[in-house]
Amino acid sequence: MDAANGRGDRYVRVQEVGARDGLQNEPQTVPTDIKVDLIERLARAGLPAVEAGAFVSPKWVPQMADSEEVFRRIERRDGVTYPALTPNMRGFDRAIAVGVTEVGVFAAASETFSKRNTNCTIEESLERFRPVCAAAQEVGVRVQGYVSTVLGCPYEGEIDPGIVADLCGRLYAMGCYRVSLGDTVGVGTPSKAADLIDRVAETVPLDAIGIHFHDTYGQALANTLACLDRGVRVADSSVSGLGGCPYAPGAAGNLATEDLIYMLDGLGMETGVDLDAVAETGAFITGWLGRAPASRVAQAFAGKRAA
Ligand code: HMG
Ligand code: MG
Repeated sequence: MDAANGRGDRYVRVQEVGARDGLQNEPQTVPTDIKVDLIERLARAGLPAVEAGAFVSPKWVPQMADSEEVFRRIERRDGVTYPALTPNMRGFDRAIAVGVTEVGVFAAASETFSKRNTNCTIEESLERFRPVCAAAQEVGVRVQGYVSTVLGCPYEGEIDPGIVADLCGRLYAMGCYRVSLGDTVGVGTPSKAADLIDRVAETVPLDAIGIHFHDTYGQALANTLACLDRGVRVADSSVSGLGGCPYAPGAAGNLATEDLIYMLDGLGMETGVDLDAVAETGAFITGWLGRAPASRVAQAFAGKRAA
């Protein structure tokens, strides 16, 4: 059994990040109504976790400024988790005030990225997370720890896997129930991704490791498969492949949920996610944004519909 999911080894927990990572870098303001609709559609499609906002500085990321309003308005489904990012106590307090039950702190394996993204060193970021983890434990809120730039940094290039493993171990020891490995710029390749899992599994139990891969170089699906082969069973993805970090220049969106579910269905893995419903949701949000989906599966579905 996979302890992270409480389900069988063929179950993969697909965590949807389209409404947060997917929209945070969007140049046009996406109205709260559209975000709420998107989140509710994703939850109805069977996704067990739908990241729904970020309680970060509205000056740094204006697109997430309405996260309180989003959380007030969404109709929450039983069995679905709606996590949100909280970089510090200020963010945590904002999140708790609107009933968030799982938060994400985010560190980076590169000093330059840490500074650019959160205006502090890696050590300082950990000091900010310590009270968040303690406060979360007191009120029964779970904390996931993201680590960015695990397979490469837009500013520093190669990243030592030992640094990633050490940082993950410290987040886990601090109280993060899972660490999520972010290939923020999408530069990783399958053997590097699999080797990283082996290294991180020395400091964090395998069932507490998640993956969060961006698809800049078209490797995210292959990297995910390589990590599944190593026993990872929690993977992030974003509807239609939306996404990107404002502080990671050149980074494309996340692995597309449609592509991930199509592959997992083909492998006979269980996700509980309805691919058609995700594809329809992708058509809804990309239609609103006025662009074609990055997902190859979504493009194939659209082609079939047109024919
Ligand atoms: P700072 O400026 O160093 O913070 O920002 P500060 O404590 O000095 O405060 C400055 C001002 O910000 C103050 O307001 C604070 O009240 C306010 P002022 O007095 O100037 O009016 N402030 C806040 N306001 C609302 N909510 C808060 C908050 N904190 C401070 N929580 C901070 C530090 C971390 C806040 C800032 O750098 C920030 O918001 N960064 C967020 C960047 C971000 O959201 N990046 C994208 C998400 S991470 C990501 O995409 C990677 C991931 O997907 C994984 C991967 O792909 O690798 C997760
Ligand atoms: Mg990301």
